[in-house]
Amino acid sequence: MACAAYAHAIIKNAGGRGFVYNSMKRSGWYENTVFYEIYVPSFCDGDGDGTGDLKGVISRIPYLRQLGISGIWLTPFYPSPRVDNGYDIRDYRNVDPAFGTLADFDMLLRKAHQAGIRVIIDMVLNHTSDLHPWFQESRRSAHSPYRDYYLWEKEIPCNWESFFDGSAWEYDDTAGMYYYHAFSRNQVCLNWSSPQVRRECADILRFWLDRGVDGFRLDVINFLKTDRGAFHADNPVENGVTRHVYDKNQKGIYEAIREISRVVHAYPGKYLLGEIGEDDLCLIKSYVGDGLLDSAFQFNLGSMEKLDAAFMADQMRRMEAEGVYPTLFFSSHDMRRHFNRLCGKDRTKAELLAVFLLTAKGIPFLYQGEEIPMEDVPVESLRDLKDIQGRYGYDKKLAEGESEEAAFLYARERSRDYSRGMVEWEREGDRDSLARAYRKLLDIRKRHLSLSMGEYGEIRQQDGLLYYQRIWEKEKIGVYLCFDGHSPELPHTDVLYEVMDGNGRTRGIMRYEQEIG
Ligand code: NOJ
Repeated sequence: MACAAYAHAIIKNAGGRGFVYNSMKRSGWYENTVFYEIYVPSFCDGDGDGTGDLKGVISRIPYLRQLGISGIWLTPFYPSPRVDNGYDIRDYRNVDPAFGTLADFDMLLRKAHQAGIRVIIDMVLNHTSDLHPWFQESRRSAHSPYRDYYLWEKEIPCNWESFFDGSAWEYDDTAGMYYYHAFSRNQVCLNWSSPQVRRECADILRFWLDRGVDGFRLDVINFLKTDRGAFHADNPVENGVTRHVYDKNQKGIYEAIREISRVVHAYPGKYLLGEIGEDDLCLIKSYVGDGLLDSAFQFNLGSMEKLDAAFMADQMRRMEAEGVYPTLFFSSHDMRRHFNRLCGKDRTKAELLAVFLLTAKGIPFLYQGEEIPMEDVPVESLRDLKDIQGRYGYDKKLAEGESEEAAFLYARERSRDYSRGMVEWEREGDRDSLARAYRKLLDIRKRHLSLSMGEYGEIRQQDGLLYYQRIWEKEKIGVYLCFDGHSPELPHTDVLYEVMDGNGRTRGIMRYEQEIG
């Protein structure tokens, strides 16, 4: 594994021009797949109750097929009190009645497969809902066989904070002890040093593999608690802010992930994608490879705060140098939509980013509705504030003596509700819709293997213009994307795709550079 310092040296020496990067190992179907994230509660309402469900997803499969995507990632649909919108599972082997039934799930899988679309499902193995029967049993008695499924302590052993807010330790009256939760107090962390927990989780994975899913997106998988010994180290606090050092990437984590991988990869052709809560590419890469995960999200590029060609080129080179096969996305259910965040609602910029997502090296993950393009939906009142992170923020500010209004404004900023609004399907056919552009780009991507399989040739940027080449066998394609307002002279021969702004000026070009050899 190349370490970060080594990687930086490569980037520095590579310079900008004419450098052809070395190839990365390629192995699975997923590297040629374009995924579409479906946040089940707000994707499509199939039964008329105002919220998304599996029937709604089924009804949109023809649309997704026509769009040209080849994989979907379904966020949690399991029975859950939905304190964190389903990332708090009460029953791992069923479908929440609000979303449908197991029969609906099987139908979804069948229809998707018939349409040539693979389905990966979110799996939350770091924590369960506090209403999960394991936890209810665990708290009941010190002699319960489930006691060891969670992390109980007589006294708070360390200063660890939850990733949402406040202490990660909660006192439970029934048990007379504290339990550990990395997220909300209703999402109780499982004890991954327990062999029974590992066995239970393996069985859950097999349950869904036997139903035919194509893989899993493993939620916060590097947060698994694999080392009880770590409890005795306080996390460093700098300027009042905790650095999460000892509560993730614990000793034993790779062994746990290897076990998961063994279970999943015993079924041929299944895909394991991890959410690794890190921005160190070297660390991210350490979780990917034979016997581990197949890929991991890289938030470095995906969560950038402003559209910046120099930053993008730099991240592309870093991922290249580190040898991490990238995942490409700019929006998700946890982030503000990039149509607002990066594009300032400028349709041309959104189209340029669509070109990037579908022509740069990596596995694209589109977020539901970005092709319409959907905007962030602001929360107008406390009643609509659904996200737990926002609600925690509200309670915290009230407890600090802030007014209700100030607390609401603070909470609204922290909340992830913005990107979770119902997809506005009625806008799909609008004149401004980007769906046609996405469709065309996806079609070009299918017909030109250099865009999915190709290595990078040059990666350059100057004055807001990003340029890169994709090369596969004899084909070389060049992509020019101009993110700032100016419209430079771009070569107009052998054009495969062109982005024009509202004034008819060319802002992006994808073109054949040459047939090699
Ligand atoms: C990551 C998920 O994407 C997020 O929505 C959730 O709140 C946390 N994991 C906790 O499960």
